[in-house]
Amino acid sequence: MNNTVILSEEKGKDDQKTAFKEEVFNGLSKSPKSLPSKFFYDDQGSQIFSDITNLDEYYPTKCEYNIFANHKESIISKIPAYGKINIIELGAGDGQKTKVLLEEILKSKRDVEYIPIDISSFAIKSLLDDLKQNFPELKTFGVVGEYSPGLKWVREHKKGRNLVLFLGSNLGNFPQDQATLFLKEIRNALNLDDFLFIGLDLKKDISVLLKAYNDSKGLTSQFNLNLLERMNRELSSNFNLESFKHFGTYDPIKGTMESYLISTKNQKVLFKEDDRTFFFRAHEPIHTEYSWKYTPQESVELSEKCQFGVVDHFTDSKRYFLNALWKAL
Ligand SMILES: C[S@@+](CC[C@H](N)C(=O)[O-])C[C@H]1O[C@@H](n2cnc3c(N)ncnc32)[C@H](O)[C@@H]1O
Repeated sequence: MNNTVILSEEKGKDDQKTAFKEEVFNGLSKSPKSLPSKFFYDDQGSQIFSDITNLDEYYPTKCEYNIFANHKESIISKIPAYGKINIIELGAGDGQKTKVLLEEILKSKRDVEYIPIDISSFAIKSLLDDLKQNFPELKTFGVVGEYSPGLKWVREHKKGRNLVLFLGSNLGNFPQDQATLFLKEIRNALNLDDFLFIGLDLKKDISVLLKAYNDSKGLTSQFNLNLLERMNRELSSNFNLESFKHFGTYDPIKGTMESYLISTKNQKVLFKEDDRTFFFRAHEPIHTEYSWKYTPQESVELSEKCQFGVVDHFTDSKRYFLNALWKAL
């Protein structure tokens, strides 16, 4: 991949494994146990997530498509047409929805470069291959790495004005205090009058949320359990996938969906290479994901806290999802 930089390679494979292991051991030593959701996205996890987005019950992707399809002209018209624009997408995944916006912006013959950043090399490679086929005229450059170093790399290497895309409910994966900190970090990486276009999953009927995160085909369960399989593959652990169950629930006080893996019995798991054992009681949870839900008013408050101003809000016909265009103040 010659139009891609792999930031994690700078660390080396052994360092990456050590970093993964440290975060896993740290999370499994806590009470309650937890694992960071960014580790869902190895090649298998990225593929399963892509399949989840096609499920009938998984509304966020469809709603965001609906918003882009209905408002693409208005969204793009808010971005001034002069000079080069870097469209930097954080956690791009398969980028399927983004193509609607890219097609629209290409129509206006502007000088744009699309720069997706994702921790998954599989996601970046598939997306760049797809874009090469479908938009051969589009300048692209992929960054494989985490959000913060990825953004820093782009700021150091790419000149021009910036439009950062943070779509889906990626921001929702951060606990609220960390979400604010991360938005401030994005703001600090931008120049005055740059833009952030952000996806915020809206608070809604809880039954809709519960169905989306406990789908009838069991893909969300597979996605969650893949984290255990990934540790077995990469960290020589011996999790028995039959003895853990996916559990997705909504906390109405915090306003967040939460995913857990629940141990179905008393058991121990050995990480053989390190001779490290962790004990799990029957019914003990491992917290694996937050998916925070917002209100339009919270978009306004968050933008103000993080030195952005709301340019516009776009919602789908069911008002399930919000895309907010913020400008750096
Ligand atoms: C829930 S998916 C959403 C993908 C896409 N934005 C969408 O709306 O369909 C999250 C994506 O963010 C990436 N990701 C998660 N945590 C990340 C991190 N800390 N740094 C970079 N990418 C991350 C994952 O690999 C995955 O492709």
